[in-house]
Amino acid sequence: MHGTVEEKIKSPVDRRKFLYVLGWGFIGVFLTTIFGAITRFFFPRTILEPPTRYKIGFPAQYTTGVSERLKKQFRIWIVREADKLYVVEAKCTHLGCTPNWLASEGKFKCPCHGSGFTPDGINIEGPAPRPLERFRVSLADDGQIMVDEGIRFRGERSEWEKPGAFLKV
Ligand code: FES
Repeated sequence: MHGTVEEKIKSPVDRRKFLYVLGWGFIGVFLTTIFGAITRFFFPRTILEPPTRYKIGFPAQYTTGVSERLKKQFRIWIVREADKLYVVEAKCTHLGCTPNWLASEGKFKCPCHGSGFTPDGINIEGPAPRPLERFRVSLADDGQIMVDEGIRFRGERSEWEKPGAFLKV
């Protein structure tokens, strides 16, 4: 009664049934695969990341010094000097912690291992190997400052004087 599969499908009728079931099984697997691929195409797994370009208001909104207005939202500081404005990434160049702006001491200080940076981002103490990085800034059509995190400027590569590294104000 309980023979092997081979014995069971010895008769032509059983073999036909077996092939029929096997055939539909393959078709089922094939269709499931195709359907999965189509679903993945139309509904890809996406990671929603914050935009890399955004506006941060008008130059006149920023007075001379370091603004922490957008540090929480975008992890940046807006620094305005007498004749220019630039955007500094609030990310320590040692291991990536978020430094604090110590207004009374006039410097950024990283809470993780003690790196310090001048208001323009130059590393002056601790293990940070290089200055803080800056993001590209431009003026949008409506006159607001546009930040583009996709383009960075690094001080140790003498990139801070390049077009886009700052706005003349
Ligand atoms: S991460 Fe800032 S000093 Fe180490």
